[in-house]
Amino acid sequence: MRIGIIGYGFVGKAIAAAHDRKTLMINDPNVLEEWESYTIEQIVANTGWIYLCLPTPSKEDGSCDTSILENMFEQLKNYEGIVISKSTAPPKFYIDTFNNCGPEQSKKYKFRLVHMPEFLTAANALHDYMHPHTIVVGGKPVDNTFVLTHAITSDLTYRTKAKIVSTDIGSAAAMKYYANSWLATKVVYNNQFAQWCKSQGVEWKNVAEVLKKDKRIGDTHYDVPGPDTKFGYGGACFPKDVASILATAEAAGVDMSLLKHQVEVNEQLRAIDTSPPKPAPAPIRQRANIARRVAPTRGK
Ligand SMILES: NC(=O)c1ccc[n+]([C@@H]2O[C@H](COP(=O)([O-])OP(=O)(O)OC[C@H]3O[C@@H](n4cnc5c(N)ncnc54)[C@H](O)[C@@H]3O)[C@@H](O)[C@H]2O)c1
Repeated sequence: MRIGIIGYGFVGKAIAAAHDRKTLMINDPNVLEEWESYTIEQIVANTGWIYLCLPTPSKEDGSCDTSILENMFEQLKNYEGIVISKSTAPPKFYIDTFNNCGPEQSKKYKFRLVHMPEFLTAANALHDYMHPHTIVVGGKPVDNTFVLTHAITSDLTYRTKAKIVSTDIGSAAAMKYYANSWLATKVVYNNQFAQWCKSQGVEWKNVAEVLKKDKRIGDTHYDVPGPDTKFGYGGACFPKDVASILATAEAAGVDMSLLKHQVEVNEQLRAIDTSPPKPAPAPIRQRANIARRVAPTRGK
């Protein structure tokens, strides 16, 4: 049975790399040479399940733009296999779509929907995909079992010792948002805590090394400044997923003031200039000597 991948960016490429390429049918308007790109119709006709790895960017108000996913669901509406969405989107969006799936006439979509949140980082996409800490499958128990048993045999990733968790679709979507917003908040807190350590005459790096050993706190996201040499968090996922939580919370009248304040502190941290200081200009006498040494020799 062949496997579809729709969306061949960071996530789609990592999934593809973990499979035997002969089994794959990929669709992405930007895939021109590396893989033969199949049409949606070909993928629908020939695959048992499809990974959706489509973008879910932020709208101007911070809410999650699910239109690319929605358009794809529409194109896949008569597909009778399993659609495994890897895209990060609000739980309510996934629950509403899930409730519209099924063989009954009244349902909009024939496919069975499973959400499998992805935890890779763009910087180490393939390595992270192949070495997950957790594999979360959110859907009907029977579909989760299908995904886990069939995908395990085709995807090299499942040969790791990752914890495998089967849950409902809304919980899978919510835990992904929790993970990203929690880690983003941890980064902001660590940035401020590092300053406090400095004020106490303590090296943050040494404190972080001790904290990493404490399982309750976890061993990641301690770098101050971060891998991009800046303070606070950036990247494609944390800001957009935090903004999406805040937008859905506001629409529902839920108080998420802690997360909201975290975003304000992060903006201040991101604004700090971390570029290396420019070397001080040489004293005037020295500058004259340098100028003489480097001046082009005339008349040759
Ligand atoms: N990159 C990460 O670190 C990461 C980690 C976890 C989760 N995610 C989530 O996974 C999803 C995908 O992320 P990504 O980083 O792979 O995105 P990406 O932007 O790198 O790739 C998305 C791909 O989808 C293609 N695409 C867009 N519209 C399409 C369409 N209609 N049909 C076919 N292909 C289409 C684009 O050409 C692009 O190649 C997002 O929801 C993201 O939030 C990303």
